[in-house]
Amino acid sequence: MTEHIFFPRPLCVKRTRQPLKGTLCVPGDKSISHRALMFAALAQGQTGITGLLEGEDVLRTAAAMRALGATLVKNETKKWWVTGRGIGHLQEPDDVLDMGNSGTAARLLCGILATHGVTSVLSGDASLRKRPMKRVMDPLTQTGATFLSREGGLLPLTIRGNAHPSPLHYRLPVASAQVKSAVLLAGLNAEGETCVEEPVATRDHTENMLQHFGAEVAVEKTSMGGRIIRLKGRASLIARDVVVPGDVSSALFPFVAALLVPDSEIHIKGVGLNPLRTGALTTIIEMGGLVTITNTYTEGGEPVGDVSVRASELQGVDVPEERAPSMIDEYPILAVAAAYARGVSRFRGLEELRVKESDRLRAIVSMLEKNGVRTEVENNDLIIWGAGGNIPGGGYVETHMDHRLAMSASVLGLVAKQQVSLDDTCFIDTSFPGYLSLMNSIGAGFDL
Ligand code: S3P
Repeated sequence: MTEHIFFPRPLCVKRTRQPLKGTLCVPGDKSISHRALMFAALAQGQTGITGLLEGEDVLRTAAAMRALGATLVKNETKKWWVTGRGIGHLQEPDDVLDMGNSGTAARLLCGILATHGVTSVLSGDASLRKRPMKRVMDPLTQTGATFLSREGGLLPLTIRGNAHPSPLHYRLPVASAQVKSAVLLAGLNAEGETCVEEPVATRDHTENMLQHFGAEVAVEKTSMGGRIIRLKGRASLIARDVVVPGDVSSALFPFVAALLVPDSEIHIKGVGLNPLRTGALTTIIEMGGLVTITNTYTEGGEPVGDVSVRASELQGVDVPEERAPSMIDEYPILAVAAAYARGVSRFRGLEELRVKESDRLRAIVSMLEKNGVRTEVENNDLIIWGAGGNIPGGGYVETHMDHRLAMSASVLGLVAKQQVSLDDTCFIDTSFPGYLSLMNSIGAGFDL
């Protein structure tokens, strides 16, 4: 992303006059791709990964695992082969590990590095250097590792890992799959049982993949909708092939565009449909979206299927706070759907949006207000007055190094009356390389 410093890629989007039509695949799931590379690097043997997301964020993880001693190669069919070092056998990196824009890469890696006997330094881009790392440093310090960060728990961060760590018993104070995963990954090299309790269930890709690689993991559901996860430490991970499904979070951009642009109909094949990731689909169906799911199957413990969507008359919706973890990355694009819908929408309990790739709560409000849509933030609820298909547009959107804001603003432009301008689309490459061209292949007409 260094290119960004010199060459931001602005975009002006005009309302499309033609429907969006076609069948497409979206790139691999970002969360699963990071984990596949990390688990493969920790496993014994050679793991083949098909469908890996080759976005900037995941390539940072690939580079980090290589710096820690794993061997990574990609063949001509884009299958990645990773030869692991085995748990406890990562080597000390000889330079700073630059995690770019990726909070998932940085936080999960903290977990791994905390319980390896190496010293490492993590950093990232200007967006990542503003994001809180204390949430992982706090529990991981209890393993016996030492963390030295910038003031306020910010990157760059030096980690002196402990090769003989204590296993953690930790109750998550925030609903965060990244924190849960960091604690579990630290537990891989700790003698005894690591236990994480989450008051609200968050995405469980780490648990699914641990089981896929042969670890002993037990998951208990609590009566209040949470989970208790127990992992037996110091067992080996055994290399297993991984097939990464399409990213449902990425699919939501063409998906919402097709819901809003009149007469559209698109089909997205092979999308990951883990129920802890599909809160946005539930919400869209509640809004009146015409959604069909077919060809469902399970791959490596992850549900997958094809999703079809037709242009629909959407109504406002009230989304409960408990649903937030299962759609946490989808609020920017759902805010666009709510802005276009008829009636008022309320998204409850969005505190965590303030610490994403940008302060997304502020950025969503600014994006919508600048384009003539009325919004309000009440405590941590976002209220949007739907324009009933008549979004004025005409605004200039600052995307704050945030891929999902950029893609959301591009969809807003497709349905607003006046042209919508974006300051930069570079960061789309972190999660959805080729997004603008793929959208053009179904008729978006973005001016590249
Ligand atoms: C992710 C967890 C979520 C999500 C992020 C990916 C993961 O973050 O927003 O894009 O892969 O574990 P939090 O754990 O901060 O909620």
